[in-house]
Amino acid sequence: MHWDAQRYLDRHGFIIERGRALVDLLDPQAGERILDLGCGTGDIAATIAARGAQVVGVDASPAMIDTARARFPALDFRVADAAALPFETEFDAVFSHAVLHWVLRADDAARAIARALKPGGRFVAEFGGYRNCAALETAFADALQRVARRDYRSPWHFPRLSGYAARLELHGLVVRAAWHFELPTPLKGEDGLRQWILQFLPHHLDGFDTATREAVLAATETALMPTIWRDGAWQADYRRLRVVAERAT
Ligand code: BEZ
Repeated sequence: MHWDAQRYLDRHGFIIERGRALVDLLDPQAGERILDLGCGTGDIAATIAARGAQVVGVDASPAMIDTARARFPALDFRVADAAALPFETEFDAVFSHAVLHWVLRADDAARAIARALKPGGRFVAEFGGYRNCAALETAFADALQRVARRDYRSPWHFPRLSGYAARLELHGLVVRAAWHFELPTPLKGEDGLRQWILQFLPHHLDGFDTATREAVLAATETALMPTIWRDGAWQADYRRLRVVAERAT
């Protein structure tokens, strides 16, 4: 999918702020070698590097890697697919924020993460868990079908905690802690919901004329108004999965 890096920075910077909070859980140490898996615009990699670790940031999107390199030229950023990482036993930690729900080859990703870690190396990740954005996706799918007779296919997988923990263990990681929790997420501005759709689901609107796009977006807003418009703001129904694991020694 094509990533609009500028829209991401302007409208969805809260994701970067949340990633910084997850860095505290990672607790990077000076001299450690850390992989930021799905580094996007590079901001979190820079936060990890500022704590003295050596960071490699990878992302499947060349547009995001171009942006990361331009913003943080001193850091090491590479285009790579999470399901086919080219690393073997070289990282003290793999960190990933708001990315793994995009990786549909989840078993390949778990295997690649385990392989990239040194024995005892840690994996700290947070991403969308079971029923993440369920209200939002259902309303958008209905609007797409009703207005334009187009079927919706989710680009994401949002696993259950139990299934995801079992998957990690199958591929050589030992799960130390895991959480599945609700995180209602304010979207900036009255147009926040449509900006979110334009950022994360733009291909579903491809080929529509302006009136049809507008009608799909408006129908989605109308459907969600009674449930996720609260106190003058859109609150996306995020549900997160957070895990801390280690590569078995
Ligand atoms: C998430 O961070 O949970 C998320 C972000 C974009 C699209 C879907 C989910």
